[in-house]
Amino acid sequence: MAIKHFLQFRDFTRDEFEYIYERTRWIKNQFKSYRKHWPLCDRTLVMIFEKASTRTRLSFEAGMQQLGGSAIYLNTRDSQLGRGEPVEDAAQVISRMSDLVMIRTFEQEIIERFAANSRVPVINGLTNEYHPCQILADVCTYAEHRGCIQGKTVAWVGDANNMCNTWLQAAEVLDFKVNVSTPPGYEIKPDQIGVVDRSHFEVFADPMDACRGADLVNTDVWTSMGFEAENETRRKAFADWRVDGEMMRAARPDALFMHCLPAHRGEEVTAEVIDGPQSVVWDEAENRLHVQKALMEYLLLGRLQG
Ligand code: CP
Ligand code: NVA
Repeated sequence: MAIKHFLQFRDFTRDEFEYIYERTRWIKNQFKSYRKHWPLCDRTLVMIFEKASTRTRLSFEAGMQQLGGSAIYLNTRDSQLGRGEPVEDAAQVISRMSDLVMIRTFEQEIIERFAANSRVPVINGLTNEYHPCQILADVCTYAEHRGCIQGKTVAWVGDANNMCNTWLQAAEVLDFKVNVSTPPGYEIKPDQIGVVDRSHFEVFADPMDACRGADLVNTDVWTSMGFEAENETRRKAFADWRVDGEMMRAARPDALFMHCLPAHRGEEVTAEVIDGPQSVVWDEAENRLHVQKALMEYLLLGRLQG
């Protein structure tokens, strides 16, 4: 059987996402009811971090333990990865000693090379280009609060980064729309991320226009990990791409606000919005745990019943 990886959002079909969300509901409910669910007993997840993390590390490590397995943390500094061992060799070795690998790294090409040499499924825990596990959690969080995201409009205000790229892919797979507004010079590049269907996104020069009528308003840091050298230039370029109360009022009255976190209050979002009644950022963070448990179970065991 061919190994299945989750390297970008479009690696899965809508039908697969529907299954994963159904399992997420069941797994979350079991866990909240203190009922054991240990399908991955004796299985090992290796987590490789080449960038910092709080949520991704915690949710994968806790999630794997809750499924009965164990998780091992590796970082560039303390492993041979930081000393030039080829990624292909690392993949061969790591995948002989584990059942599942999660990687947070820089270029998408690195994770693709790892996956091509891996005997076990590989999960993208964030690359410069994509953050599929976060959007997996965000769509689940939207559904919990407002129902199915199909046909809805998500406003993206800010950088055309890994989060934005993944929303654009998700819109195609799950059939919703993204209104994108980025500062000049930081535009989206749909062709580079395999987004061909232009009916699932629209570009707006003014972030207020992107938010108008939106069901969900989403933003992220102005400077992503790995781009710190551009910090000062970005602070100036992104000054008008801050989600504030006025933008939220332009959206639908029942619109939600999401941010993958960590956030910088006063930069990409005001405290009034992120700490306000429309914000669901803590649910979003928690749902990383539940959706990733369903994802790991699916990658290792396929479709299960009840
Ligand atoms: N949202 C997210 O991936 O958070 P961490 O960087 O803390 O893992
Ligand atoms: N776009 C951010 C997301 C952090 C979870 C980054 O890549 O740093």
